Amino acid sequence: MTRYLMFIIVLLTAVSLAGCQGDNTAQAYNVSTGGNAHEGVKVIEAYGCGSCHTIPGIHAADGMVGPPLYFMSRRTMIAGELPNTPDNLVKWLKSPQSIEAGTAMPTLGLSDQEAKDAAAYLYTLK
Ligand code: HEC
Repeated sequence: MTRYLMFIIVLLTAVSLAGCQGDNTAQAYNVSTGGNAHEGVKVIEAYGCGSCHTIPGIHAADGMVGPPLYFMSRRTMIAGELPNTPDNLVKWLKSPQSIEAGTAMPTLGLSDQEAKDAAAYLYTLK
């Protein structure tokens, strides 16, 4: 019996270690927004989101204009305006001004796919 349990423990450890391999954790969350987190990194860098936001994992993203985007996957609300769902995050990224007129976050002109990709990345921030 003990031996059997040991076998199970060793097996589970091996499986969980195998699950941790790969270049990053982003891919695991690609489903929820219809976007690709890997592409999202490029979108976030290309649009300069980091000039206003501190964003973990994004090069030189240490802006202090907007809130830091730590824990976006656990946030209840987006900008204090919308429930944090994938659809709403995509909407916010595409058109913050239409959700909260006068917000300091500009409408940057992200395409639908770019917003989905960026949202996919933000949801990897746990
Ligand atoms: C000019 C500065 C600026 C830029 C550029 C900018 N943002 Fe923002 N962002 C803000 C501000 C300010 C807020 C807070 C808005 C509010 O609460 O009214 C905000 C809010 C957000 C929120 C909601 C955060 C929360 O705590 O609820 C997200 C997500 C976000 N921005 C993502 C992005 C992404 C992704 C980009 C790039 C595509 C980007 N922002 C570009 C200024 C900016």
